[in-house]
Amino acid sequence: MAQKNIGIIGVGAYLPEKVVTNFDFEKIIDTSDEWIRTRTGIEERRFATENQATSDLGAEAAKKALENAGISADEIDMIILATATPDYLVQNTACIIQELIGAKNAGAIDVNAACSGFVYGLALAKGMVASGINKKVLVIGAEVFSRIVDMEDRNTCVLFGDGAAAAIVTEVECGTGIISEFLGAEADKTGSLRTIAGGSKVPLTREALDKKENFIQMKGQDVFKFAVKALPKATLEALDKASMKASDIDMVIPHQANVRIIEAASKRLEIPIERFYLNLNKYGNTSSASIGIALFEAWEKGLIKKGDVIALTGFGAGLTYASVIIKWSY
Ligand code: UT7
Repeated sequence: MAQKNIGIIGVGAYLPEKVVTNFDFEKIIDTSDEWIRTRTGIEERRFATENQATSDLGAEAAKKALENAGISADEIDMIILATATPDYLVQNTACIIQELIGAKNAGAIDVNAACSGFVYGLALAKGMVASGINKKVLVIGAEVFSRIVDMEDRNTCVLFGDGAAAAIVTEVECGTGIISEFLGAEADKTGSLRTIAGGSKVPLTREALDKKENFIQMKGQDVFKFAVKALPKATLEALDKASMKASDIDMVIPHQANVRIIEAASKRLEIPIERFYLNLNKYGNTSSASIGIALFEAWEKGLIKKGDVIALTGFGAGLTYASVIIKWSY
């Protein structure tokens, strides 16, 4: 059987309108614009309104991706939603998005690989199409992290933002598409990035709420150390599978957590920083949405053209890390 070429035919993104600047945080916690900018590169982020859940953001991004791909929602036969902030713990959010966008012929599943989720989703989608199980898969990364950060915890609240992105994965022109993928994981045994309560291990009791265990907790330096190794490693593993070198990459679209992590990766990979697409100054860390949002922006600005080789690389809670190499199809 001839091997299928599987890639992306349309991308979309959605960012909530509400802009929260570093100066806004100066008014509520002991922090400064200078600290946040120099330690992270973040200047502002978007927060969802009270009425917006992850499904609402994801649905808007999905509609845009469908429009850009020129296909209708009923052509989609699978929805893979990457999120760490689902609408509910039980009842998957992909099903809610299926209803919101009218994708009545689609199966729907959530995956949680945290900030690597969008890349994991693309790789899973490729597998579904390659196996013949599905023909057109809608991959979404959507998050409302503003709901799970403690707005009094300066270690986390200034870092994250809300947003969503989507991509349609299907068969593409010969010689283009997702060339290779690397999906990595190692257990985070020390709780360097975790929301403790609300799952099966620690139920959401009054005591847990008093201890604020419903909010995300992070040991920033531990995650930083993991990230500066994981980003180059995942990219190099995927390149190796593609029999390519770092110099073959036209653009790296990394997870947008911290500009210092990306600069360190640029040095290790010996890929100039100019070839990394960065927008974390505007949106902060949107977890599983960040890579998709950056991909959409780069495409919309005309920075990605047919035949370009792009590496999408993420790292995050779990711990997870992942990369896909794509030869752009359109
Ligand atoms: O998607 C993956 C998720 N997360 C990440 O990728 C995060 C990875 N880690 C990081 O990006 C960095 O570790 C941070 C940006 C979180 C922190 O930067 P850092 O250079 O590692 O700072 P630090 O944790 O060593 O803290 C230095 C100081 C501390 O004060 P003391 O103990 O030296 O007095 C912190 O309390 O900075 C303090 N600090 C702040 N000061 C002002 C921590 N957060 C803030 C803040 N404003 N928002």
